[in-house]
Amino acid sequence: MRKPAETSVPVIPAIAERWSPRAFDATAEVSPQELTTLLEAARWAPSFGNTQPARYLVGRRGDPTFARILAALNSGNQAWAFRAGALLVGVMVTTNEKGEVPYAEYGLGLASENLVLQAVDLGLIAHQMAGFSADAVRSSFGLPEGAVPRVAIAVGHAAEAEVLEDERRIERELKPRQRVPLSEFAFSGEWGTPALGD
Ligand SMILES: Cc1cc2nc3c(=O)[nH]c(=O)nc-3n(C[C@H](O)[C@H](O)[C@H](O)COP(=O)(O)O)c2cc1C
Repeated sequence: MRKPAETSVPVIPAIAERWSPRAFDATAEVSPQELTTLLEAARWAPSFGNTQPARYLVGRRGDPTFARILAALNSGNQAWAFRAGALLVGVMVTTNEKGEVPYAEYGLGLASENLVLQAVDLGLIAHQMAGFSADAVRSSFGLPEGAVPRVAIAVGHAAEAEVLEDERRIERELKPRQRVPLSEFAFSGEWGTPALGD
């Protein structure tokens, strides 16, 4: 299903087409080559002073890493994410040899958005999640001090909303997407004065 962004002017296709579906095709796989492409996109994100704080745990459906990431998700996310072709956890490295890494979370966010947009460009879907236990990830994968799991990402192929089975979940999947209007988003002159029209 498509839920393109309603924009006043065209934006690049990956941004227009990206959204956060929960209906994944449980029979379709994400190939190692596709995962390599996603990770290359993330690896080449900018970061403060090129400190590169982003790291990823990567599992493909059927492998032990996927099972361990799935087990760390909260039950609401497990209910749909088990159908994804791949599950990842974005980890931010908060310290290096110089001490605290500035803007580490910002860096992981930039890398993860690169990854998600690259997924859309490959014809895949991706859904980021905060709903997981960082402690479970930390102990399950033996993360070192200063490595902080911050986001889980489900990647895979789209399916019809009906795979979600439950009526309420299907309704949520079909709901239109919303954003604040441009007039409340960008200001110039005084805070609150729209920089542009809608
Ligand atoms: C950091 C972050 C955490 C999120 N956590 C969850 C989550 O745990 N479960 C979920 O179903 N969606 C989660 N989402 C998806 C958001 O709800 C979604 O991006 C938002 O509603 C905007 O919708 P769109 O991505 O379709 O444009 C998360 C998104 C982000 C960026």
